[in-house]
Amino acid sequence: MRWAVLVSGTGSNLAAILESKLPVELVLSNRADAPALDMAREHGVPTRVLLAGHYADRRAFDGALCEILEAFGIEAVALAGFLRWLTRVVVDRYPGTLLNLHPSLLPAYPGLHAIERAFRDRVLWTGVTVHFVDEGHDSGPIVAQSPVPRYVHDTLADLSERIHAAEHQLYPCVLHAVDRGSVIFHEGRVCYDEEGTAWMHGR
Ligand code: GRF
Repeated sequence: MRWAVLVSGTGSNLAAILESKLPVELVLSNRADAPALDMAREHGVPTRVLLAGHYADRRAFDGALCEILEAFGIEAVALAGFLRWLTRVVVDRYPGTLLNLHPSLLPAYPGLHAIERAFRDRVLWTGVTVHFVDEGHDSGPIVAQSPVPRYVHDTLADLSERIHAAEHQLYPCVLHAVDRGSVIFHEGRVCYDEEGTAWMHGR
């Protein structure tokens, strides 16, 4: 499949995805200064910037986004730190091929600052979630999760580092499983074939 990765910031997950050799044909950012764009360029992947301020509303932004994705022949989309909620304009265009990564064990801690909130609550376990995207906020069907412990002497930085390491391992594996058709969204459910849970073994 021809993948696009949507970013807004650092791009550490983009780096993990590119290093995994997923066929990424486009990296798109809603921020012109996102370091992730430099990473894409270093890997020779085409980039585009789409600024919300240039569009009347969210649907207009998403319409422009779809036009770019179609121009690149994109078949599947991975959100990797893309700080914008998508409307049905995009969601309906990519059923079962639009995924997001979130730094908590959803449905716990949806939204912003998920790691900080879990840390302050002194949870014993938090983790990362990969889910299909719907028009809600971190509410789409869950595809895969990886638990991460919070150790007693952890600082927020320690926990954040452990979460990001789990993200970098899990997300590329799950995207490859979707890419090879081992994870599909069928009749409102996430379905795996025998190879679909290879992400549990880091594959
Ligand atoms: C990750 O923690 C991801 O879970 C969240 O945004 C962060 C992006 O980090 N959605 P990076 O830009 O990939 O380093």
